[in-house]
Amino acid sequence: MGLFLIAGGAGFIGRHLCRELLQHGHKVRVLDSLVEQVHGPTSGVEAWPEVDFIEADLRDTAAVREALTQVDGVFNLAAEVGVGQSMYEVERYVAANDLGTAVLMQEVIAQPVKRVVVASSMSLYGEGLYRTEAGERVEVGARPSTALREGRWEPEWEGAPLLPIPTDESKRPDLSSVYALSKYVQERLTLMLCAAYGIEGVALRLFNVFGPGQQLSNPYTGVLAIFSSRLLNGAAPLVFEDGQQRRDFVHVSDVARAFRLAMEAPSAAGQAINVGSGRNHSVAEVAALLATEMERPDLVPEILNKARSGDVRHCFADISRARDLLGFEPTRTLEDSLPELVDWLSGQHALDRVGEARRELEQRGLVV
Ligand SMILES: NC(=O)c1ccc[n+]([C@@H]2O[C@H](COP(=O)([O-])OP(=O)(O)OC[C@H]3O[C@@H](n4cnc5c(N)ncnc54)[C@H](O)[C@@H]3O)[C@@H](O)[C@H]2O)c1
Repeated sequence: MGLFLIAGGAGFIGRHLCRELLQHGHKVRVLDSLVEQVHGPTSGVEAWPEVDFIEADLRDTAAVREALTQVDGVFNLAAEVGVGQSMYEVERYVAANDLGTAVLMQEVIAQPVKRVVVASSMSLYGEGLYRTEAGERVEVGARPSTALREGRWEPEWEGAPLLPIPTDESKRPDLSSVYALSKYVQERLTLMLCAAYGIEGVALRLFNVFGPGQQLSNPYTGVLAIFSSRLLNGAAPLVFEDGQQRRDFVHVSDVARAFRLAMEAPSAAGQAINVGSGRNHSVAEVAALLATEMERPDLVPEILNKARSGDVRHCFADISRARDLLGFEPTRTLEDSLPELVDWLSGQHALDRVGEARRELEQRGLVV
């Protein structure tokens, strides 16, 4: 049994990871600055006796040094998480995500632990992988804004259509937002410095995580949280493009287990590993499924026929590496998890700031 530090452990995934570790007999220390956009204006967390909680920023060297005392392993989940927002709050994202990880790694070098597991992201892939009509696997770049303006959403290969296929870790990064860039830096800093100093480093590239506890009032987070917040406030979900873009929705309890396995599995050391459900859904389908489960089928998703700068058309996970190296097998599907999600949502109050977030992007020309 060990003592593990979770940076960013008061967030959505971090709290599930705390529970997972405690259930497996470990001790948990959390360092989190309780970012207001995520946690609201009231500072402090409710009584959390089972966790050693330190309210501090990951850029605070002294606090990080203290937090690392006698720790066996570190999970780094601390990050600012809004893709769209990262395109205009550049300094904030680079500072929190990259300088934060730099400070953490600097202190880990001075006070080594056995293993560091960092939360990376599917966003670093850009577009997922595709196959041509002839069966050739191809990597495509960002879609040209001229095509997006004309509503030609699907990437093409020499003028011909493509079939999206599961994306594995060999896909080269194609960074299309400051958030993606900052996650890539977090991942590489961790794997590079761990390798150099004989510490085990693992990066989990998370796909779209959902489940109870997701951040509802942060309009910059995941699509299911944003749709839930709209529906809770009696408003139709806003769907970019035509809603046929496909994503991989993975339940947060599966993600928490993947993190624990990534800390334990010997063969994971030094690897970047996708964590998804291995299934995919269109965004419009998800909006409709959620509206039905929340008994608001009248709130028909509003298809915006506009694209956000940096958004990709399709990206869903090939999870073979997680199966091979972590023994990871997803246990939850989106469909079977919706009743649980809606049950949790019924006790929640969410501030609908989605319109405000969309206006921020539009004013800056980040929606075409
Ligand atoms: N939720 C997803 O779908 C998803 C997908 C891919 C990657 N990720 C990554 O997983 C991690 C956790 O995401 P989440 O969904 O739980 O987000 P979250 O916003 O709920 O949690 C992040 C936590 O980090 C804390 N934090 C932010 N900056 C900090 C700093 N400088 N110092 C200390 N604490 C800080 C916040 O207060 C928050 O509690 C993040 O690194 C995110 O980039 C999440």
